[in-house]
Amino acid sequence: MIKLYRININALADPLQNENLLEQVCPERRKKVIRYLQPDDRKRSLGAGIIIKKILEENGLSEGCLKYSENGKPVADHLHFSRQAGQTRGASLGSFNISHAGDYVVGVQSDREVGCDIEKAVNAPLEIASHYFCPSERKYIETAADQDKAFFTLWTLKESYMKMTGRGMSLPLDSFEIVRTDTGFALGKSPEKPGFFRTMEFENYIFSVCNESDFTLNQNEFFDIL
Ligand SMILES: CC(C)(COP(=O)(O)OP(=O)(O)OC[C@H]1O[C@@H](n2cnc3c(N)ncnc32)[C@H](O)[C@@H]1OP(=O)(O)O)[C@@H](O)C(=O)NCCC(=O)NCCS
Repeated sequence: MIKLYRININALADPLQNENLLEQVCPERRKKVIRYLQPDDRKRSLGAGIIIKKILEENGLSEGCLKYSENGKPVADHLHFSRQAGQTRGASLGSFNISHAGDYVVGVQSDREVGCDIEKAVNAPLEIASHYFCPSERKYIETAADQDKAFFTLWTLKESYMKMTGRGMSLPLDSFEIVRTDTGFALGKSPEKPGFFRTMEFENYIFSVCNESDFTLNQNEFFDIL
């Protein structure tokens, strides 16, 4: 089971100018939000807090359950306790993940380990692919009609995997490979756990999800908050 959430930050006021907005999220998130200097960064961070709170509440959990793994992945710690204790609250939530870029904050929840990434598909830094992507990934970009789109498709797929595993940037970019298949993309070589992918576009954004087990996703099946 995969559920997607989305907030367009243009629907949010600057949290610094609107205390009611800040009060929607837990004190730790409030502190994080107000540390940002730019209004849009504050809005994206607030949006992340709002989506996390919604996902936790949908699973009968409070923000008090929120913890961060070794590499910074937000996790609901209480879930593991619930499962061990044989309770049902929160038992269907395996994990969740958040990503933000440009106008959007997106979130995903799943009954398995999950990661996601969104990027605006403009001005691709192609030199990153030359230095850090696998040879087959570089070839996919070089032979694509739209290199910006090809780069950001692979970038978001790779980052969604790094975020699903929780390793983040501690997982070297060329230690695992994303390969094109007849139906989409799949994990090639990897030192980490298996991952299954879906990628989609809306406006000029590319959004990818990686889940620990195979899954279906209808295009643009977002729950829009606000
Ligand atoms: C986690 C990471 C991989 C993603 O960072 P990012 O792309 O800048 O940011 P995103 O908007 O996609 O995701 C940020 C969110 O991911 C979550 N996150 C943080 N660390 C995480 C981790 N180790 N695993 C999973 N999720 C993580 C947080 O919820 C964070 O949002 P918050 O700080 O508002 O709570 C980060 O380690 C990073 O440094 N990325 C650098 C980008 C890069 O070079 N990517 C190469 C891809 S080819």
